Amino acid sequence: MKTLLVYYSRTNITKEIAETIQKKLDCDIEEITDNNKYSGKLGFLKGGMNAAMGRTTDINPISKNPSDYDLIIIGTPVWASNMATPIYTYLMKYNSEIKNVASFCTCMGNGYEQTLKNISEVCGKEQISTIFLTAEDIKNPEEKINIFINEIR
Ligand SMILES: Cc1cc2nc3c(=O)[nH]c(=O)nc-3n(C[C@H](O)[C@H](O)[C@H](O)COP(=O)(O)O)c2cc1C
Repeated sequence: MKTLLVYYSRTNITKEIAETIQKKLDCDIEEITDNNKYSGKLGFLKGGMNAAMGRTTDINPISKNPSDYDLIIIGTPVWASNMATPIYTYLMKYNSEIKNVASFCTCMGNGYEQTLKNISEVCGKEQISTIFLTAEDIKNPEEKINIFINEIR
């Protein structure tokens, strides 16, 4: 199964998980970026507000065509019980090209169920597998990652 892992990460927590999964699956990977830093208190508020309101942003051009893949794995931090705005923007743009989807999210400890549900809704399909990793899980993420990978394979 040709697989692409698409992720966004503001402070590299999701990035580290994404890279671990990418290595284990030996799949392609694409980082989504936009030109907002979402730094400082104002940036945090803006990010939370944008995600809660379902706003989109200008994401930078992508290098991999999602329609070339059998499976797209989405990785996102939880922002205000939703996916991060750059990931929402990506899915709104490319959802019709996604054949199968699985996803993971990282968070402090809440909002993950709604986030994973929202990803399914934006994609218009049930997911092959989902996991969430809280700040506690991030200390030792291997077990959850392995469950996720086994479900995908
Ligand atoms: C704007 C914003 C909103 C957030 N909202 C939530 C939330 O609703 N629930 C939660 O548990 N963590 C929340 N967080 C924390 C992040 O989800 C968490 O720190 C995540 O692991 C960061 O991943 P990253 O380093 O890949 O950006 C929020 C962080 C930001 C910046």
